[in-house]
Amino acid sequence: MPNAKRWVEPDPRRENWFWPTEELKARAWAADEKVYEESWADPIRFWEERAKEISWFKRWDKAYHDEPLAYKWFVGGKLNLSYNSLDRHVEAGKGDKVALIWEPEPPNEPNRVFTYKELLAEVSRLANALKELGVKKGDRVGIYLPMIPEAVIAMQAVVRIGAVHSVVFSAFSPESLRDRMVDCGAKVLITADGYYRRGKAITLKQNADKGVEGTKVERVIVVRRAGLDVPMDPSRDVWYHEIVPKQSPECPPEEMDAEDLAFILYTSGTTGKPKGVMHTTGGYAVQVYTTCKWNFNLHEDDIFWCTADVGWITGHSYINYGPLMNGVTTVVYEGAPDTPDYGRMWAVIQKHKVTAYYTAPTAIRMHVKWGEEWPAKYDLSSLRVLGTVGEPINEEAWLWYFKHIGGGRCPIIDTWWQTETGANCVQALPGIGPFIPTVAGRPFPGIRAKILDAGGQPVQPGEGGYLVLEPPFPPSLLRGLWGDPEKFKATYFSEYGPGYYFTRDGARMDEMGNIRITGRVDDVMNVAGHRLATAEVEDALSQHEAVSEVAVVSRPDEVKGEVPVAFVLLKAGYTASEELKKELVKTVDKHIGPTARPAEIYFVDDVPKTRSGKIMRRVLKSLVRGAPPGDITTLRNPECVEQLKSIVGSGG
Ligand code: PRX
Repeated sequence: MPNAKRWVEPDPRRENWFWPTEELKARAWAADEKVYEESWADPIRFWEERAKEISWFKRWDKAYHDEPLAYKWFVGGKLNLSYNSLDRHVEAGKGDKVALIWEPEPPNEPNRVFTYKELLAEVSRLANALKELGVKKGDRVGIYLPMIPEAVIAMQAVVRIGAVHSVVFSAFSPESLRDRMVDCGAKVLITADGYYRRGKAITLKQNADKGVEGTKVERVIVVRRAGLDVPMDPSRDVWYHEIVPKQSPECPPEEMDAEDLAFILYTSGTTGKPKGVMHTTGGYAVQVYTTCKWNFNLHEDDIFWCTADVGWITGHSYINYGPLMNGVTTVVYEGAPDTPDYGRMWAVIQKHKVTAYYTAPTAIRMHVKWGEEWPAKYDLSSLRVLGTVGEPINEEAWLWYFKHIGGGRCPIIDTWWQTETGANCVQALPGIGPFIPTVAGRPFPGIRAKILDAGGQPVQPGEGGYLVLEPPFPPSLLRGLWGDPEKFKATYFSEYGPGYYFTRDGARMDEMGNIRITGRVDDVMNVAGHRLATAEVEDALSQHEAVSEVAVVSRPDEVKGEVPVAFVLLKAGYTASEELKKELVKTVDKHIGPTARPAEIYFVDDVPKTRSGKIMRRVLKSLVRGAPPGDITTLRNPECVEQLKSIVGSGG
């Protein structure tokens, strides 16, 4: 790698520990350990300092309002997320800088590139179109779009006029879309005709049509991406290219209160019904801006590429708002990592000289399988920082990423956070380190975290426990669950009371304060970086007429991290068959989407139950891991365990 700078060096005393070089420290936003102690001693002051770096129409009166279940940040402050992402750079004379590069999947199709000025104009036009369709401050707008520039433009346009977006992953089924649109009461949906995936044009509009049936959605804006012939309902649907270009490129940003709702994003909880995580404007802006800047060490010349989908929180915060608020260039890639070949991601890094690359462990494990000869063909010397997110990263994947993508020169920032936290919360800072495989790092400055035992006592260094966050809570922590204050309290603030936010993750901490995340402690799975509740898959399967009862548990998977495995009891009159398995998979596709497909379906006569009739998923979880079932003395039907063991052992 010609002239590539070295950003990290190995620790001579500890194997696989790495520290920033002087070169990296000099570029970093924080290079002195003192930032931790000082910020943890006074988080409010820390976040106030950071908040001064973004633009406010009116400064806040009070930085933090500490009230159980009603914490607030930057009270009385007025700002707009879109103004902070676009206008302020244009006003600072950076209008001609490239804001967004879109890489379509078909390799021969040209890139679409937007400067900050152009992006601002396009966002303003769409914002005006939304107004024309009757969208007002506080109204919900659904976004069901593939990875095209309009996905970012749509989010920006919605928050610009003070409306609230709710983005739904484009691979989710019509039914998933409908559930979300009904729950949030969206009035308008923005979607597309289709998109390219693995060389094929996939239709989306038909799914959108089914998804809005029976909802309050009155108007649908349709982006033409794939040139597909799709049905349009003239009383409801309007083409993006027919309504947007004719609008004025100017649209004054709405002055939002810091605590006004910015967006709702649905995520899996422990029940079958996804919950609408609510993020407000000010705290979200400040933490996303700051973590993106500090963790990825962003400067003027950075080209940031986050490979997540816009349908997830990672896409919201680190494709859209984070990089744009920082005034850098964000890369949006439409397609699959293996199209046209296994080198596509590395070709894109080389082509656009990407400096910061942010992806998921499941993706890295896929690349490990495909082989290091693929990245070896490309010049990756532009890279400075590598990030990972979404699940615990195993040592092999970490070291492979470090060596074959980062050339042994770049720090790996393993960022722990959640849809609920809105932005990164635990990681190693690039200018401080240490970078250690499988260890995320320390809480971000200004964020207080602890590891507690079940009784609420802090555990000793090295001991396992539960990760909690302490007040003052992170500025971008969720403010509620849409329409369900009880669930908000029950999910996050019941185990340890309102004084701790319970992350529902297991973790351990070393003497230095570095945190290793061990994974969820509830029935939430992480399937190829997609968050999914076992109960959601159970709900989907139980809608098939043949199913009388079903239990779903996760099983570790080499590439995907975890996969769902289903135990199905059939109703009388139905017999187990391969055909029926296929039908059940289709049922999951229909109700959730292909990401939730069970890797294995076992037809069984019984599942372990407690005396009160509750399914003991713990026992099934052990069985699919080939582990001893644990204590089964409290089961009503312990005899079924042996039978299940032989079924699982024989592969179904
Ligand atoms: O279990 C943790 C895992 O992902 C969960 C949150 O999932 P979601 O809301 O979909 O957000 C994913 C993107 C932020 C967490 O409760 N998780 C996330 N990041 C990490 C992680 N586990 C280990 N290490 C991480 N870096």
